[in-house]
Amino acid sequence: MEIRSSPIPSTVYEAVGGRSYFERLIDLFYDGIETDELLRPMYPEDLAESKLNMVDFVGQYWGGPTAYSDRKGHPRLRMRHAPFPVDEAARKAWLTHMAAAIEATQGASDEIKAAMNDYFAMAANHLVNR
Ligand code: HEM
Repeated sequence: MEIRSSPIPSTVYEAVGGRSYFERLIDLFYDGIETDELLRPMYPEDLAESKLNMVDFVGQYWGGPTAYSDRKGHPRLRMRHAPFPVDEAARKAWLTHMAAAIEATQGASDEIKAAMNDYFAMAANHLVNR
């Protein structure tokens, strides 16, 4: 029995085509961040590591390999965001860029896109700290 060639994806990660989907998603998301006067200054000048962290984290969340935890341990996202002023305006701006990135990607069904938007909205609410 060849489980790996099963035509039925068992995770969102597989259903969208694996890591390359999340690389495109996060590239698009950071295109938005780069133009954002409120959020851009919170991120390091070189965004390469920020992108890698997000690709690994989001891929892992949606059922991909545990790339984020293997490198960085428990995500502890609230703690990792504590140094940054995540207020209502930041939450809204961040979600606007993520929703635009999700909308612009190819490869995810409408149902998966809706699930991603719901998840990010829930997670962003949880990270507001001011
Ligand atoms: C609510 C608005 C948010 C703001 C303003 C924000 C801002 C930031 C900033 C400034 C960083 C540090 C830059 C870096 O080292 O990459 C960061 C890191 C990160 N954020 Fe957010 N973020 C928000 C929401 C979220 C959400 C909803 C998620 C996931 C669902 C998320 C996941 C991450 C991850 C995985 C990292 C890397 C943490 C690490 O390993 O150091 N963020 N965020």
